[in-house]
Amino acid sequence: MTHEFSIVRGARDIVADPAASPASAEADAVVVFLTEGGVGTGMIADVDRATGGMLTRLVAAGEIAGKRFECTPLLAPPGLRAGQLVVMGLGKREEVDAGTLYRAAATATRHLAGRRRSTVALVADGSWTTRQIEQAVAGGGVGMIGQDLYRSEKKRTRFGRTIWIGAPVEAVEHGAVIADGVNLARRLVNMPPDDLYPQTFAEEAAAVAGRTGMEIEIWDEEQLARERCQAMLAVGRGSSRSPRLLILRYRGPGGSDSAPELALVGKGVTFDSGGLSLKPSDSMLGMKCDMAGGAATLAAAATAAALKLPVHIVAAVGLVENMTGPAAYKLGDVITARSGTTIEVHNTDAEGRIVLADVLDVVRGLQPRRIVDMATLTGACMVALGNDVAGLFTNDQPFCDEVAAAARAVGEPVWQLPMYSDYDDQIKSEVADIKNVGEGRWGGAITAAKFLERFVGGIPWTHIDIAGPAFAEKPRPWIDGGGTGSMVRAMVELVRGK
Ligand code: BES
Ligand code: MN
Ligand code: ZN
Repeated sequence: MTHEFSIVRGARDIVADPAASPASAEADAVVVFLTEGGVGTGMIADVDRATGGMLTRLVAAGEIAGKRFECTPLLAPPGLRAGQLVVMGLGKREEVDAGTLYRAAATATRHLAGRRRSTVALVADGSWTTRQIEQAVAGGGVGMIGQDLYRSEKKRTRFGRTIWIGAPVEAVEHGAVIADGVNLARRLVNMPPDDLYPQTFAEEAAAVAGRTGMEIEIWDEEQLARERCQAMLAVGRGSSRSPRLLILRYRGPGGSDSAPELALVGKGVTFDSGGLSLKPSDSMLGMKCDMAGGAATLAAAATAAALKLPVHIVAAVGLVENMTGPAAYKLGDVITARSGTTIEVHNTDAEGRIVLADVLDVVRGLQPRRIVDMATLTGACMVALGNDVAGLFTNDQPFCDEVAAAARAVGEPVWQLPMYSDYDDQIKSEVADIKNVGEGRWGGAITAAKFLERFVGGIPWTHIDIAGPAFAEKPRPWIDGGGTGSMVRAMVELVRGK
């Protein structure tokens, strides 16, 4: 049913044709990318010549400007075999980067996927770097997939074939795999909470692990109890769906044999009602997205494995449903986390950090060189940074700088928030080692990060709060509303270390 990480190479439907010419391409549509500088040289100039200078004329007339994400479909273009030529704007030539190309290609394919298309050809410009081509290909693969899992009449249809003209085979293969990763995370986030709960998330993960050659361990309730994961179990107690802890392992060629080089950790709250500190209905509606960090963790590890990157990664996801059932954990409860740290519960809606306390402790025990966690952790982070920017928090500045650079290199905006030790005072408790909220609402994203820091045992760590970017309330030109696959591309880039 899904295309993700098909192990049948031949079945891949996103392919390179480095030698093809856009004018003679047998495709329903050809997409060319135009900057504000005008038609210029390269393959787009060939297209222009084939059409008898149509593009140059349209640019001169001011009908097409090449502005960022400007999408101009030209039907029945003269001189081309294709039935349609889409001119996709990239903005100023000197500002074009991998993130621009990801979104631009996605905008074009999202537009075209509104109809059934057997073949769509996109034309890579000769000036793009390999990384930029990969991200363009990834964007093209993401844009054509919609939010249609449960719609009887689909709004988007995957193209029968996507052909990248002028792009090297390897870059297109890589980009197609990255698209699979992003689309996997999006699909999981978009699944309704009654279909995706800890057990079914674990089953999805097992299938993905099988297709990508990762080892997987799934800890059920009994195993969690044996492992003293009382924090995870406490959060899960209000639900009829029991928690799971996923541990995935990928050992790439040349990756370290012993300790993992990187641990990815994800918050996998498959639905967050708030628990007894119940959310109002409006805030609860979107809370199927509260496993987006877990989805990004699984998807990034799977993508690294599918790309056979030379690294040893462990990925762990804490899966629970935060509900209000008769056994639900209560305000004033004191939980002993796996690490031995005691946590006084002041608000059952600050559940993500409690779940992550145990997941981080399990991962700490595996002695990875570095840890990144991804979590839709706080509304406060959205207040601080808005909907599109993820918050970064760290105990190790050089590592955080690397994470930020990787995210920015692929066009995923991030911004670091401070971790002054004064914030630690805010999570002190009168009765336990710590409490699960700060004093009042102020600095809520940071006090949450301070809480997590207690469980990483001094290993270099960066926390990414993706409460804003993980979920698009409304559609954007390059993506349908819903899960966005936030941080999958950033983590793949981090793992590649370039
Ligand atoms: N899952 C939410 C955070 C969230 C909010 C994610 C909006 C995505 C969109 C988290 O569990 C939560 O409820 N956090 C509380 C913490 C508070 C009780 C200290 C919040 O941010 O309000
Ligand atoms: Mn919550
Ligand atoms: Zn939550």
